[in-house]
Amino acid sequence: MDQAPKKLFIKTYGCQMNVYDSERMAEALGASGYVTTEVQDEADMVLLNTCHIREKAAEKVYSDLGRLRPLKEAKPDLKIGVAGCVAQAEGEEILTRMPLVDLVVGPQSYHRLPEMEARVGQGGRAVDTDFPEDDKFEALKTRPKAKRGPTAFLTVQEGCDKFCAFCVVPYTRGAEVSRPAARIVSEARGLVEAGVREITLLGQNVNAWHGDLEGAEGGLAALVGQLARIDGLERIRYTTSHPNDMDEGLIAAHGHEAKLMPYLHLPVQSGSDRILKAMNRKHTAEQYLRLIERIRAARPDILLTSDFIVGFPGETDADFEATMDLVREVRYGSAYSFKYSPRPGTPAAERKTQVEPSVMDDRLQRLQKLLGDQQRAAQEAMVGRETTVLFEKPGRLPGQMVGKSEHLFAVHVAAPESLRGEIARVRITASGPNSLAGELAG
Ligand code: SAH
Ligand code: SF4
Ligand code: F3S
Repeated sequence: MDQAPKKLFIKTYGCQMNVYDSERMAEALGASGYVTTEVQDEADMVLLNTCHIREKAAEKVYSDLGRLRPLKEAKPDLKIGVAGCVAQAEGEEILTRMPLVDLVVGPQSYHRLPEMEARVGQGGRAVDTDFPEDDKFEALKTRPKAKRGPTAFLTVQEGCDKFCAFCVVPYTRGAEVSRPAARIVSEARGLVEAGVREITLLGQNVNAWHGDLEGAEGGLAALVGQLARIDGLERIRYTTSHPNDMDEGLIAAHGHEAKLMPYLHLPVQSGSDRILKAMNRKHTAEQYLRLIERIRAARPDILLTSDFIVGFPGETDADFEATMDLVREVRYGSAYSFKYSPRPGTPAAERKTQVEPSVMDDRLQRLQKLLGDQQRAAQEAMVGRETTVLFEKPGRLPGQMVGKSEHLFAVHVAAPESLRGEIARVRITASGPNSLAGELAG
């Protein structure tokens, strides 16, 4: 007899890779009879796919777990799982601190979720934070063919060997591993058959992808080249890149690969050589600036974005001013900036020279003002110009659609809903706080 499907509610924190992993976890639990729900209260299983990057992100998980208590009391059979980077970093401790949690699964072992779920069903609790030899993507079933929206993420590389002094990722995601090209291409074909037009290739250091393609330029550029040959795939992006892994082939691809969008997230973290050294970033501000020059020579209209940390231990006013100078020189299209957060087990957390919170606040405010001004300028520079837009969904106003420009700006356009999933030429007419407005170009 067929059983009614069980319902799975997943909450995703953190980076795009967690968004991708959440999809794959839902697919894995499909084998155990689960379908996803958007309504937490009707779930038979709640899975929090967590992020450990800053203290706030990690603590949020515990407050959200606390808030699940009444639901668990009302539904004793409710299963609660913690996945992702907090799961990896804290493992068993989560079970001790939070008795309502039934299972804890790390980012490299979630292909084992169905067995873990079964164990929990028999009244046990389960923890798996292994970095198994077997590749989870090989163990997971092929992806369902169900129709999807026009954009998708696709993980091609995971893990990090860089060990920046502030960062937990090398510990939570493990060493750098690249997926084989053939698997990636076949997954991308499946996504395109399901309606996807734009794929963003993901990796903690995506441009360190070194799969199994031949030749001196067998890196990410070669993979992009293979993917670009898929009919129906119109746009390719990739994130996140490390400056030291931007090889010549990839820079050149921005010049000749029409499907590669003119957008690059290239985190620099700081503009001070002293701080870059203390962060173990292994490049100087000058080297980064020269790299940007080469990238812009290959693709003059490329939009650059970055991540910054203010208040890294030992950061002086002069160091911070060097960051402001670098930002003024690069002119970013947008960027993320964060106050330094000491993370357990990382070398920077041990430093005695932590920066005062009020100083950090002040620096963050100044940096965000500058980056905000630059974003506004980048958006305003689009007004009067034409770009292509991939339409994703209806806008707030009737008769309006919203999509993304080549530069990843949201664009609102009066357009029929039949354009969903289509790419059209749009003339930008106005720039708003966080999006552009435009009209279909004739
Ligand atoms: N792999 C990517 C991104 C890693 S996490 C990269 O190397 O660029 C995303 C961003 O979070 C980082 O770029 C950094 O700016 C920020 N971050 C990481 N650790 C942090 C910490 N301890 N405190 C504050 N911000 C942090
Ligand atoms: Fe973290 Fe640095 Fe690795 Fe990025 S490159 S994931 S910031 S250690
Ligand atoms: Fe967070 Fe892990 Fe991503 S720590 S940023 S979810 S890799």
